Amino acid sequence: MDPIVLVHGGAGDIPDSRVAGKLRGSKMAAARAHRLLQAGGSALEAVEAAVVVMEEDESFNAGYGSVLNLRGEVEMEASIMRGSDLAVGAVTLVKDFKHPISIAHRVLTDSPHSLLGAEGAKIFALEKGFKTVPPESLISQNARDALNKFLEHREFGRTEIGAEHEGGVGTVGAVAIDSTGSIAVATSTGGMSGKAVGRIGDTPQIGSGTYADDGVGGVSTTGHGESILKYCLAHSIVKLMEGGLDAGTATKTAVNGMTKRLNNTAGAITLSKSGQVGVHFSSKRMSWAYIRDGKYYYGIEQGEVLSEKFE
Ligand code: GLY
Repeated sequence: MDPIVLVHGGAGDIPDSRVAGKLRGSKMAAARAHRLLQAGGSALEAVEAAVVVMEEDESFNAGYGSVLNLRGEVEMEASIMRGSDLAVGAVTLVKDFKHPISIAHRVLTDSPHSLLGAEGAKIFALEKGFKTVPPESLISQNARDALNKFLEHREFGRTEIGAEHEGGVGTVGAVAIDSTGSIAVATSTGGMSGKAVGRIGDTPQIGSGTYADDGVGGVSTTGHGESILKYCLAHSIVKLMEGGLDAGTATKTAVNGMTKRLNNTAGAITLSKSGQVGVHFSSKRMSWAYIRDGKYYYGIEQGEVLSEKFE
């Protein structure tokens, strides 16, 4: 089958001022990973490459540009999964590395464990040759503004608050199928503005933020972390596909089901094992992009599917 990679740049009440940056960055991430797949790269390499692009871009809440905890610090999380053997790697409470997703990938390949946090993640990363960066170098002005906005209202997951400053969520993720039919998923986040120090959300928790199974498909999620993890959103979507739903219907059913049950919003991107695409979000906006048959397909508004030539 033709390789494919689908990316998202986070669900939330994204202000108009940030729409263009998120669309541009999502398309860039899809293009980087698409070229890698076309050159024979694996799905695992492709999803890491897509997420690395977005971790470098302050348009997204991951890597540089991550939102801040109550102490004004970055604490990042990431996970990655390979659908051929259900191998996983995840990190949480990462403060001073540029690319948490690359450390998560090394946990998958080089660690007997699945999820490493805080000092343990740092020790592992240093052992594997990752270089630290000053934590302040990961903080953007937008993240500072978002924390100040949060301190005015102190409510998580309320989409009607903070339209001028995307303060809550905005995780990034990618799902890919390579030319061998292997599926991989990667997800990375700074979490939520104003989160407690040491708070761990859905993103590093396999089945919540990320899931991949070559026999069914792959999913990356974004949105209100505490709701996503209670609903095991990524795994719920995979289970609905396993039960016979197509990727689009499974994604919509589970995202809307979570929102109805827990009264918070989320989004998800899904590929079925045959390459069907599912994109759905219950938040105001979520950027997403993929490339197929020489064309970009992308969007950020509800119901929007834009397309243009990919060169
Ligand atoms: N989904 C990102 C978070 O809540 O941590």
